[in-house]
Amino acid sequence: MTRTWQAAPSVGHPLTRVEGLDKVTGRARYAADIPLPGLVYGWVVPATIPRGRVLGLDVAATLAMPGVLAVLHQHNAPRLTDAGDATLLLFQDDRVAHRGDPVALVIADTPERAREAAERTAVDYLPEPHDAAFRADHPRLYEPDHVNPRLPTVTDKGDVEAALAGAAVVVDHEYRTPPQHNNPMEPHSGTAVWADGRLTVYDSTQHAYGMARTLTKLFGFDPGVVRVVSEHVGGGFGAKGLTRPDAVLAVMAATLVGRPVRVTMTRPQLFPLTGYRTPTAQRIRLGADRDGRLVAVEHRASSQTSRLLEFTEQSASYSRVMYAADNLRTSHRVVALDVPTPRWMRAPGEAPGSFALESAMDELAEACGVDPVELRLRNDATTEPATGEPFSSRRLAECLREGARRFGWADRDPRPAARRDGRWWRGTGMAGAHYPARAGPTVAHATAFPDGGYVVRVGAADIGTGARTVLTQLAADALEVPVGVVRLEIGDSDFGRAQVAGGSMGTASWSWPVVTACRDLAHRLASGERLPPEGLTSTYDSTEALRALGAFARYAFGAHFAEVAVDAATGEVRVPRLTGVYAVGRVVNPLTARSQLIGGMTMGLSCALLEESIMDARFGDFVNHNLADYHVATNADVGELDVAFVDDPDDELNPSGVKGLGEIGIVGVPAAIANAVWHATGVRQRELPIGPARTI
Ligand code: MOS
Repeated sequence: MTRTWQAAPSVGHPLTRVEGLDKVTGRARYAADIPLPGLVYGWVVPATIPRGRVLGLDVAATLAMPGVLAVLHQHNAPRLTDAGDATLLLFQDDRVAHRGDPVALVIADTPERAREAAERTAVDYLPEPHDAAFRADHPRLYEPDHVNPRLPTVTDKGDVEAALAGAAVVVDHEYRTPPQHNNPMEPHSGTAVWADGRLTVYDSTQHAYGMARTLTKLFGFDPGVVRVVSEHVGGGFGAKGLTRPDAVLAVMAATLVGRPVRVTMTRPQLFPLTGYRTPTAQRIRLGADRDGRLVAVEHRASSQTSRLLEFTEQSASYSRVMYAADNLRTSHRVVALDVPTPRWMRAPGEAPGSFALESAMDELAEACGVDPVELRLRNDATTEPATGEPFSSRRLAECLREGARRFGWADRDPRPAARRDGRWWRGTGMAGAHYPARAGPTVAHATAFPDGGYVVRVGAADIGTGARTVLTQLAADALEVPVGVVRLEIGDSDFGRAQVAGGSMGTASWSWPVVTACRDLAHRLASGERLPPEGLTSTYDSTEALRALGAFARYAFGAHFAEVAVDAATGEVRVPRLTGVYAVGRVVNPLTARSQLIGGMTMGLSCALLEESIMDARFGDFVNHNLADYHVATNADVGELDVAFVDDPDDELNPSGVKGLGEIGIVGVPAAIANAVWHATGVRQRELPIGPARTI
């Protein structure tokens, strides 16, 4: 049969979330909502010492408590194989690697009884001396072999010292950022159920395929045994990108008790168990001529990791990309402490790194008497500064100019502390931004049915971003049909290899095979191929195509502008206005794109003013481990948010031309706000968060 749809293109037009009604009516089921017959519940017993050994547990006493079915611990837990993440090797020995490290899991018939019994489980420890205090001059800081995500630890071009020695103007400062927690609205939850020789895990993960692979390796299962399902996910910000203990514990427990087991974490349990952004100390040295043209850039970053895993935030990598300098050195050091393991949090590397470099650029602008926008335009790069590689596209200058125009930057008086409006000091500031535009191998299947409907399956995850919606739009356009006849099925590892909903590479990765498979299917239908009752399917795997990509430096770029008001009496900072202008390739859906970016900008504001996980090094624990004490920006903190795009056609990316925009919204925002606070008050802000104590 021949299909004669006349569909208007959907890509480039706003479309509300295809699963929006399910979400607002409560029909959408998240991992902890899936009903299962015979379901029981696991609750973690956390270590209460920061370092040492578990000598014993009173298992008999716990087993005698109401509703308790089993206690999982080092002596009865399944043996695991290292899958490259030691934080998942739970109950394999008697070591306590940090406070909150699980020492047992209590399984009971209700979550309340599991919790009661877990909290009453007596544990005998042999404590050892610990060190949980991060310091920029920590004696055990060292240079690791590589930094995330497998980038070189050091890059060195030209002669930074000589260039600094001869520079007319030098800026040399240290910048600090605190630990921060991802705090997705939905805490982590994993449910494991065995049936007919297969293990299904319902988990709130950003990467069902990756989790299935990790669990298979960890437990030594045969290929194809594990299926991970994550149909709806209530946020992640990186905390759900990799497998977390909830899934491992659920699988262990379901295997032990022979019933479905659910492990849902509380907010305080997320703080030691699911990752956080490391604290950083970063020293920036800039050398420039009198006109602000950079001759030297040095960016040195220090961060912490745990005793379990070497995880090094790539903060200095920001300076490898951003501004041109003949002499450029970037380096990283890390120290292993007796603390929970830091992991990915939205714009890992770029978020803290941009605070340091974009703040230092503002200090350079002041020192040279050059406007901060003009300073960045003067130092725009034609090739990637650290590598010399050509950019697939770089529209930073367009973002800077358009941002300045929209924000009304032209008439700005550069003098600090020159605008007082009653009790408020007022100021404006800005910063540049970039984020890598990556894509990874993914498989998609597109099926046409005789009733005129289409189903597209891909192992994507929609963590609230609108991924399901934009993939529906891209699929519909590739099939040349209206969006209403296409159903996207995602969040299932059985759909085959897929990239993580992270690193701003979800849509770029998933759309590649979705668009290609849909185009192929449309072509087959148009050429008269028979449509059998069970449907006609085209499958595409992008692995080979990715190998053929040319050597380009691929990034999204942006510019952020902030207006602040600082209370002259209390030092409170308000942000009435933020503008973000972005070059992010093709914008599939302006509505969900804007939502991603205002979310990122809000997280940047939150990072600038509020977010800080407070480590009490005496106990090796974060003390503000709840949303009452860990402050995130709310509606009352956010003023006007203005988002705009510049055209960014880029043929060197992927078939849909998208760069991803989940993370660039946060990059540079803390520096833009810090620079605005300086402009308002004359006080430089080199440490986050910018609380009242630091502004006046
Ligand atoms: Mo994002 S930290 O890559 O999920």
